[in-house]
Amino acid sequence: MPSNPPDDKFKGGSVAAFDQSWAALPASNRYHFARQEPAHQVQFAFQNHFRVFRKVLGDVQSGRVLEVGSGRGSMAAFFANAGFGAVLLDTSRPALDLARANFRQDGLTGHPEIADALRLPHASGSFDAIVSIGLFEHFADIAAPLHEQLRVLRPGGVFLGYVVPERTVSVQTLAAPVNGLLALEHRWRTRRDPRQAVPRKAPFYRNAYRARDYLKILEGMGVAARGAFGMFPVPMVSHSPSFPFTPMAPAREQRLMGLWRALLQLNPLRPGGDPWTCPEDWGLAFLVWAKK
Ligand SMILES: C[S@@+](CC[C@H](N)C(=O)[O-])C[C@H]1O[C@@H](n2cnc3c(N)ncnc32)[C@H](O)[C@@H]1O
Repeated sequence: MPSNPPDDKFKGGSVAAFDQSWAALPASNRYHFARQEPAHQVQFAFQNHFRVFRKVLGDVQSGRVLEVGSGRGSMAAFFANAGFGAVLLDTSRPALDLARANFRQDGLTGHPEIADALRLPHASGSFDAIVSIGLFEHFADIAAPLHEQLRVLRPGGVFLGYVVPERTVSVQTLAAPVNGLLALEHRWRTRRDPRQAVPRKAPFYRNAYRARDYLKILEGMGVAARGAFGMFPVPMVSHSPSFPFTPMAPAREQRLMGLWRALLQLNPLRPGGDPWTCPEDWGLAFLVWAKK
């Protein structure tokens, strides 16, 4: 592992920062799950994530899944919709309240739990699959949450860690000029309406560990199989560069997704066997997986 993870005053404080950030979201805020056609690029991305996850899961296509750091439950919703028994675990009560409301609205069943990823309140070997999206990069010490997740996974079960590392260059760099112009346009169009101000990103700690750092720890844990590859090979396009999960106007989102669908078919590098996968340095994220 890198000996000098980025120094950051929020290193020990992301739990409180996330809690405040979730509490600030309006109760009406929906998650990124969509059964049918996605309404915007974030739902599109989550649908693609889930398709890749199912491929990696192999013969583990049912049973109990634990999503650690589930937030408002976007990924857990895909698992619940596919028939898994989903447990949604997060330190944030406001996030789980949003998850509960979202699940109810979509007629999904899930079990929210307020708990810490460093002390999972579950017996060893009690899950068929463990998943997290955007969790590990918020720990200065990734070994501790990795050990906890592998502990509660049953032998033969599958671990999926989707990581969004701190980094300066990726496919997102290509979209920077476009996003800059969109931000200017948005500011011009909404200059008299303060409600349209773009949301500011909260200052969360984020590490820069690479997939190989995770694989080394997993190797020491004696898992049966393990691997990693990049994911999310297209940039997020938005008028809110610091928080690109803010959707644009519906027509723009539809046009963008049409373009991504066409381009993805041309993706020549598919290390995970799916057009949504790519080299680690290119993608917005990477997936580390292991079979126990
Ligand atoms: C970047 S958000 C991702 C949320 C969700 N997975 C998604 O994709 O929308 C990280 C989540 O991890 C949660 N979290 C942070 N530290 C945690 C910890 N120690 N134990 C459990 N959850 C934690 C935060 O409250 C937040 O909901």
